[in-house]
Order: sequence, then C-alpha cells, then structure tokens
Amino acid sequence: TYCVFEPKLINILCVSVCVLTVINILCACVSVCELTVINILFACVSVCELTVINILCVSARDKHTVCVCVCVSQDLLDHSCTSGSGSGLPFLVQRTVARQITLNECVGKGRYGEVWRGQWQGESVAVKIFSSRDEKSWFRETEIYNTVLLRHENILGFIASDMTSRNSSTQLWLITHYHEMGSLYDYLQLSTLDAGGCLRMALSIASGLAHLHVEIFGTQGKSAIAHRDLKSKNILVNKTGQCCIADLGLAVMHFQDTNELDVGNNPKVGTKRYMAPEVLDDSVQTDCFESYKRVDIWALGLVLWEVARRTVSNGIVEEYKPPFHDVVPSDPSFDDMRRWWCVDQQRPNIPNRWFSDPTLSSMAKLMKECWYQNPSARLTALRIKKTLTKIDNSLDKIKTDI
Ligand SMILES: *[C@@H]1O[C@H](CO)[C@@H](O)[C@H](O)[C@H]1NC(C)=O
Ligand SMILES: *[C@@H]1O[C@H](CO)[C@@H](O)[C@H](O)[C@H]1NC(C)=O
Ligand SMILES: [Mg+2]
Repeated sequence: TYCVFEPKLINILCVSVCVLTVINILCACVSVCELTVINILFACVSVCELTVINILCVSARDKHTVCVCVCVSQDLLDHSCTSGSGSGLPFLVQRTVARQITLNECVGKGRYGEVWRGQWQGESVAVKIFSSRDEKSWFRETEIYNTVLLRHENILGFIASDMTSRNSSTQLWLITHYHEMGSLYDYLQLSTLDAGGCLRMALSIASGLAHLHVEIFGTQGKSAIAHRDLKSKNILVNKTGQCCIADLGLAVMHFQDTNELDVGNNPKVGTKRYMAPEVLDDSVQTDCFESYKRVDIWALGLVLWEVARRTVSNGIVEEYKPPFHDVVPSDPSFDDMRRWWCVDQQRPNIPNRWFSDPTLSSMAKLMKECWYQNPSARLTALRIKKTLTKIDNSLDKIKTDI
C-alpha cells in the first residue's frame, strides 16, 4: 500500500539498498497521508517504535512522494543499510547514527539551541540541538538535506537528522561534519589574513553560495536554493582557511521545470544586521526566486567586507567588527537598519588603505556591486566566484613576476 503526495518531492536516496536486501512487508500508511511530507517520516518512524520493527518512507522522482512502509528487523538493519552516496544516509540509518553518538562538549549556545562536539565511530561530529522554539528550522533543514543532493566542499556536510524523546521532551538533532576552528565570526576575532588567505577564503564562500544558487539537472542534480540567513556566524572555517556554508533552516528551493517555489513554512526571518534594503522596507518580491538570491548577494558582500577588514596590507589591519557596527546598536531594530540603508542609502565604510592594495581594492569593487539598491543590478554568486578566481590568478602572477 502506498500514499501519493503532491506536489512536493522528497528524495531519500539509497532506500533501495534496504528494500533489495530485506524481506520487506509493505505496511499500510493511509492514516498518515494527510500530514505534510516531513511529518510523514516521523509519523512512520514513531509507529515503528511501538514494535521492534522499523518503518521507512521512500519516494519516486516524479514529483510524487510515495510512502512505502518497509519493515525490517533491527538485526538486519545493523548489517544492511549503509551508503555513502546521496544527500545523507537513509533515514532509518540516520536514526541509528544518532543513537550511537556520544556528546562530548558544548561548543556553542544561542537562541537557536546548542551545538555539541560529539563522537561517532571514532570521529568528531557536530550535533546541533535545536531549541523547541526553533523546531521549524530543524524541520526545514532536515527537509532540504534529505531532498537535495548537497555534497559540496563549501556546504556543511550533513550526516543525519533525528527526533527523539529524551527526558519526556522532544529533542531535535542535526548531525553534521565537525569543524574545530568554529565559525568565520569566531575565526576573524582572533586571526588575520594575508592577501592570498583572504582570496582563498572569499572564493570558498562564493563557491558555496554559487553551488546553492544553481539548479543542476539530472539524476545527480539539485534544485536551486537561496539561503536567506547568510552571515559570518553561519559560515564555518576549516584548518586550511577555507569555508563552508551552514544553517539551511530558512532556505527556499526553486524547481525551474515547474517554476515551483518552495518557501517552507518557517515564520522566522533572517538576521536584521544582514538584511538587504528591499527586505527591510518590505518591497522584496517574495514570489520570485531571483529576489531571494539577490538578498543572499547583499549579505555575501557584507561577509566579504568582514573578511577584508582582517586582511593585512602594508602592516595595517582593522580590528574585527560586524557590519554596520558604527551606525547601529548591538541588537538593531528594523528601524535602525532601515534608516541607514533604505532612507540614507549608506553603505559600509571602505578604509582608505584598501585602495593601495591590489587585492583589497578589487574586493572593495566587488562588494560595492553586491550592495546596489536595485537588487537586479547586483552581481550573481557565479560572477563573484569567477572574478575572485581572476583576482587570485593575477595575484599569483605578481608573485611569480617578483
Ligand atoms: C534529564 O533529567 C534529569 C533529571 O531531571 C537531568 O539531571 C538530566 O540532565 C536530564 N538529561 C537531559 C539529556 O536533558
Ligand atoms: C578545507 O576545505 C577545502 C575546500 O574548501 C578542502 O579542499 C580542504 O581539504 C579542507 N581542508 C581540511 C584540512 O579539511
Ligand atoms: Mg545559525
């Protein structure tokens, strides 16, 4: 028995691994059909917890989600369901993973919840435990990672998502790769960069965003995604000073062939400090996918500005400051922000010293093209990526010429 849902597409890969190797019993799941796609996963799974048997929902790639309940014994599960491909592990395995993790230390805390460093099969993993007020972000991020193939070196690597009952309250976990250097925000407080490091970092962020924004067709394809909360706190740094983009709790997806825009149902809005003028004054076209990408580009310009300030030229560097530190208070209101960017059309200050450095002056030019009041005039992520590559090559050339 199966249920067909429209029009959402949920794509849990590798399910066939289990279906093929296991004597499967198709269970009726008619009663859960009316729930939204993401809820069905958990509805099915909670059914299985009533027995020693697990149930799983799978999908077809034809824009219908087919929910097949496959019953497998725990014993078989432990031996048969592993896979390295797809956007993550099969859902069933994700739950098993969550149960094998030991939490070691809390490495971050905020309104969103907590981030822990955990241990899974001898490796460090990051476990983000969402606060109950932010459960919609967990749903959204889980949905996106399970719908879209998002393996990219500049997007935070997803391992598993889990919802459990612990201490009679629901805990929402998102398990991802662990980056010990922490966020770009943390990194820039303590470290400075040289021109090469600045470009490498900027290029890695632009590459991640370009990958999110692009739709790729085919079996290894992905929908186009806009992030909607890009900021230095949502970017992680690795040991070689390259970055990956995290936190897809607000993201929107776009499918070009059907022109379907999936904005999810998270009522949260992005971070005010990074909001584009058209979001602040509410003139953004919320039914048009392009507008979400342009909002990301505005924020990308601000992140590049934060990175450039920490890049040394002629022995000089600015201290770390968040964007607009000089004009808005620490928890700015919409009005604080609106006054500067919409009414006065102010932009972040570009220090004079940048203009005597070839890398920083090129970066400044790029940033300004992210901050046009008219969203459609802004550069695309792909253009920024290409320009940064060009600047990087010319820097290499200067070095070899010397
Ligand atoms: C569960 O509850 C106990 C007692 O209230 C508390 O000591 C413990 O820290 C809780 N555990 C978790 C994971 O919240
Ligand atoms: C850091 O990320 C880059 C990709 O941006 C990758 O090529 C590199 O291997 C990573 N380095 C470490 C130490 O993880
Ligand atoms: Mg975040």
